[in-house]
Amino acid sequence: MSEEKKTFYITTPIYYPSDNLHIGHTYCTVMADAMARFKRLQGFDVRFLTGTDEHGQKIQEKAKDKGVTPQAYVDEIVAGIKKLWATMEISYDDFIRTTEPRHMKRVQEIFMKMYQKGDIYKGAYEGWYCTPCESFWTETQVGEGHVCPDCGRPVQKANEEAYFFKLSKYEEPLRKLLKGGEFLQPESRVNEMLGFIDQGLEDLCISRSSFDWGIPVPIDEKHVMYVWLDALSNYITALGYPEVEGESSELYKKYWPADYHLVGKEIVRFHSIIWPAMLMSIEEPLPKHVLGHGWLLIDGGKMSKSKGNIVDPVVLIDRYGVDALKYFLLREYTFGQDGAFTNEVMLNRMNYDLANDLGNLVSRTVSMVEKYCAGIVPAAGVDEGPDAELKELATTCYERVEKRMDKFEFNLALEEIWTVIRRTNKYIDETAPWVLAKDESGKARLDAVMHNLIESLRIVSILIFPFMHHTSAEIMKQIGLAEHVCDGAACTIKTPTPVWEDAKVFDKMAGQKVEKGEAIFPRLDINKELEELEAMKAPAVKPVCTKELIEFDDFEKIDLKTGTIIKAEKHPKADKLLVFQVDFGGEVRQIISGVAGSFKPEECVGQHVVAVVNLKPRMLRGLESNGMLLYACSEDGKFKFVETKADNGVEVG
Ligand code: MSP
Repeated sequence: MSEEKKTFYITTPIYYPSDNLHIGHTYCTVMADAMARFKRLQGFDVRFLTGTDEHGQKIQEKAKDKGVTPQAYVDEIVAGIKKLWATMEISYDDFIRTTEPRHMKRVQEIFMKMYQKGDIYKGAYEGWYCTPCESFWTETQVGEGHVCPDCGRPVQKANEEAYFFKLSKYEEPLRKLLKGGEFLQPESRVNEMLGFIDQGLEDLCISRSSFDWGIPVPIDEKHVMYVWLDALSNYITALGYPEVEGESSELYKKYWPADYHLVGKEIVRFHSIIWPAMLMSIEEPLPKHVLGHGWLLIDGGKMSKSKGNIVDPVVLIDRYGVDALKYFLLREYTFGQDGAFTNEVMLNRMNYDLANDLGNLVSRTVSMVEKYCAGIVPAAGVDEGPDAELKELATTCYERVEKRMDKFEFNLALEEIWTVIRRTNKYIDETAPWVLAKDESGKARLDAVMHNLIESLRIVSILIFPFMHHTSAEIMKQIGLAEHVCDGAACTIKTPTPVWEDAKVFDKMAGQKVEKGEAIFPRLDINKELEELEAMKAPAVKPVCTKELIEFDDFEKIDLKTGTIIKAEKHPKADKLLVFQVDFGGEVRQIISGVAGSFKPEECVGQHVVAVVNLKPRMLRGLESNGMLLYACSEDGKFKFVETKADNGVEVG
C-alpha cells in the first residue's frame, strides 16, 4: 500500500469584489501560490483555497451607485478576478464565492451551532461602523474626528437591534492561544493582539438590519449576518463543513485544520481573535498558523483610486510577463514587512536578476554547448579548480531553500537560488571555455565545464519551479529536457514535471541535446519603460464627498450671508492671519482668516464674499473673529475666495 501523502492546506483572504484587484492583492495570492507549488513539489497533498467575499454594505452601495443588482455587480468583478488568476496561472484548487449556495447554507448552520451553544444573543448595537472595512468601532476608538482607526475614513453611526456573539467568553483561551507562540506570526503582531485583548474584548455584533445584502440570520429574517462571520467561515465551508445531507465533508476531514491562513496585516485581528473564537464556539480545531504579511505601499501610503496610484497587475503582465512579475514580488519584499512599490525598483530587479544573471547564464551556456560540443551535453569529467565548490553549492541549495520556505522567506529562498546562478556565471569567467576551445588539449576540460554548467542550470530549473514555472520549463527545454510529441503535422513540446530529489544530484544530463531558444528575459530600457508606464497611469479619481453624510436639518442650521470686504490688514500678533472688516449690508463685522499665505491685504479690499455668520465668536490671538469667510482650498494649500455677484447681506442656501 502506498504511504499517504502529508496534507497541506493554505488559504488567501477572500477578496472583496468591490473593485478590480490591484498589485497588493496579487502579492498575497502570488505568495500563496508559490508556497502551494513548493509544497506540491516536495510531495505534499496540497489544498490551496482562494475566493471572493461578496456580501456587505459596501458592495450593496456600489451596486446601487452603478444601477445594477449586487449579484450582477459582483458577478462582473469576480469574472475579472478569475481571469486575472488564470492569466497568472494561480494554482488554486478551489475558488469560493460567498454568494454560492454551498457556502450560504453552511454559514447558516454554523450560526445555528453557535446559537445552540448559547453563544449568540439579541441586543442593541450603538456605535460606529466603517463600511469600507466592514468593522464596528466604539466611540473612543473613532475619536473626535469620527474616523476609522484602520483606514482613516469617516465612520457612520449605527444604532440598531442586533445579534451578538459572546466573544468576551473566549478571552482567556484566546490569550493562551496567542501566547503559545506558534499560532500567529510575525511575533510583533502577537503583542499587538494581546494588547487588544487586554483592553477587554467586547461581545461582537454579528448581524445588521439596515441593509439586506447578506446571508439571512436563520432565526430572524430581518437580519443579515455580519460580513466577517460570513467571510471567515469560507475556510471550512469550502471543505464541506458542516456536513449537509447528500454532500460529502471528506475534504474537511482530510485538510482541516488549515496549515496557513495568509492574510494582510490589517485583517490579522479578525483571523487571530474572531475566527479562533468562532471555531472554539463550534468546537472545531483551530488553524495551525495565521501569517500576517505587510503592505505594498506607493508614495509611502496605501494605493487608492483617489490618488490615481493603483498599480494594475494586468498592465505589468502584458509588458513583462507573469514570471517576471511573480519573481519581483517574491524577491523584493520581506514577508511581514511593508515595502515600497516603484516601477524603478521593479525594472531594476527584472534587468539585473532576470536578464543579466539568469537570462545570460542560460543563453551563454546553451550557445557554448552548441558551439563547442555540437549541441550534445558531454559526460562528467574529473573535478578541477572550482568544480567541487560549484557542485556542492548547487546540490545543497535545495536544503537552504527548504529552510527559507519553512519560514515564508520567499525573498531569501530566491536569494539562495541566485547565489547558485551568480556562482555559475562566475564559473564561466573562471574556466574561460573560449580559451579551452582554442586547441584540442583543452577538449576534456571544456567538456567537463560544459557538463557542469548544464547540470547547474538543470538544478536551477527545479529550484525556481515554484516561483516561475514558465521559466523553469523554458530552461528545461533549452538544456534538452523537452519532449517533442508530434501527432501528424502538429507538434507539442512537453517538459517534465520537476522532481525535488533531482536537485540533490549532479549527473543527469550527459547525452541530452540542447536547443537554443529566445532570450528568456530580454533587457529592458529602463528610462523608456518608466516613461511609458507613467504615461499609462490612470488619472486620479476624486470622490466628491469626503465627509460624513449630514441631514438637511444640519445644513439648515448654517446661516450663510453675502458681504464685501471693506478693510483688510495683517494680524499684529500672527503671521498667518488676516483681519477683515466685512460689510453685510448694514452690519460691519470683524472676521479673521488664516489666509495670509494666499493674499496680500490690499488685494482683498472690495472682494465680494460668502460667510458663515452664525458661528460663535472666537478670540484669535487677542482679536475677536465674528464669523467665517468661505474659501476654496487647492491641493497646493492656496486659498481662493468663494465669490458672489449678489448684494451684501443676501442669504445663501
Ligand atoms: N474580504 C476581506 C477578507 C476576508 S478573509 C476571510 C478583505 N478583502 S480585501 O479585498 O480588502 O483584501 C484584503 C487583502 O488583500 C489584504 O489582507 C492583503 O492580503 C491584500 N492586500 C490588499 N491591499 C494590499 C496592499 N497594498 N499590499 C499588500 N497586500 C494587500 O479584507
